[in-house]
Amino acid sequence: MEKILSGKKVSKKILSELKEKVSKLSENRIHPKLSIFMIGDNSAAEYYSQNIIKKAGKIGIQTELLQLAFEIKEKELIDKIKLANRNPKIYGIILQMPLPKHIQGDKIILEISPQKDIDGMHPLNAGKLLLGKDCFIPCTPAAVLELLKFYQIETDGKKIVIIGRSNIVGKPLANLLLRKNKYANATVTICHSHTKNIEKITKSADILIAAIGKANFVTAKMIKKNSILIDVGINEIKTNDANGYKFVGDILYEDVFEKAKAITPVPGGIGSITTATLLSNVVKTAENRKNS
Ligand SMILES: NC(=O)c1ccc[n+]([C@@H]2O[C@H](COP(=O)([O-])OP(=O)(O)OC[C@H]3O[C@@H](n4cnc5c(N)ncnc54)[C@H](OP(=O)(O)O)[C@@H]3O)[C@@H](O)[C@H]2O)c1
Repeated sequence: MEKILSGKKVSKKILSELKEKVSKLSENRIHPKLSIFMIGDNSAAEYYSQNIIKKAGKIGIQTELLQLAFEIKEKELIDKIKLANRNPKIYGIILQMPLPKHIQGDKIILEISPQKDIDGMHPLNAGKLLLGKDCFIPCTPAAVLELLKFYQIETDGKKIVIIGRSNIVGKPLANLLLRKNKYANATVTICHSHTKNIEKITKSADILIAAIGKANFVTAKMIKKNSILIDVGINEIKTNDANGYKFVGDILYEDVFEKAKAITPVPGGIGSITTATLLSNVVKTAENRKNS
């Protein structure tokens, strides 16, 4: 196995397969389109949306970006989501986070049609994921699975430790790795901010996944020799160079590199795969519709 697990390679493969699928769908006059809801000004959400639009365009998926005012009322937002639910030309809906404080995220997510909820945020999809049923898998946990598959990383019977228990990363990922299939069947432990003796637990991991949101949190003394490290974290830190900032993961890369068997870089790791897994869910809705 390569020591540096490149997310870019994984993404390239997924996108090229999707391009073929989209082209086959268009032969059946199905043209998948994605609707992105963005509320207010947020440079990270804007960057993420533009990245989705660019990659979608390259593989033939159409997109529409709804840039809504920060002051938008919940009812108005719900009405717009309902319109997208009803629109047969829309195959997937994503709601960019964070939302303004006056809008209740949980309430809005319930309004997205579970059949178009390509981010897997609706409780119906989250419940199906927990039960091991077919569903939309949130794009970041899906990206981790794709990386495991691409590099043929054996997980059966392995001890996997995940740091982080968020609804979008840690929890769904733990459930996916517990499934009774290939690239799962692992013994999974989740750590969080209340975990005692975290170092003792992380040191027992054959595969350690960090999804914390704290720059360079994991150091060499916290890992087992020859373990596989998957860094989900994306943290902006200040630098003294011309840029003034850079992105680093939750794992202190230079410190752990020698001791680890393999590691995902940041940038260029899991973050590079998430747009591809999101678009893969759009294609899935289109194929479901074709076969229904
Ligand atoms: N690569 C991608 O595409 C992608 C996608 C999504 C997120 N991310 C990145 O992944 C990271 C996590 O994102 P998220 O949305 O899951 O974050 P989040 O909702 O803030 O969750 C962070 C988790 O880390 C835990 N944690 C925080 N401090 C800790 C500590 N000192 N020790 C142990 N656990 C600690 C928290 O524990 P508590 O639950 O106890 O608070 C929480 O469960 C962020 O850097 C984010 O930018 C990347």
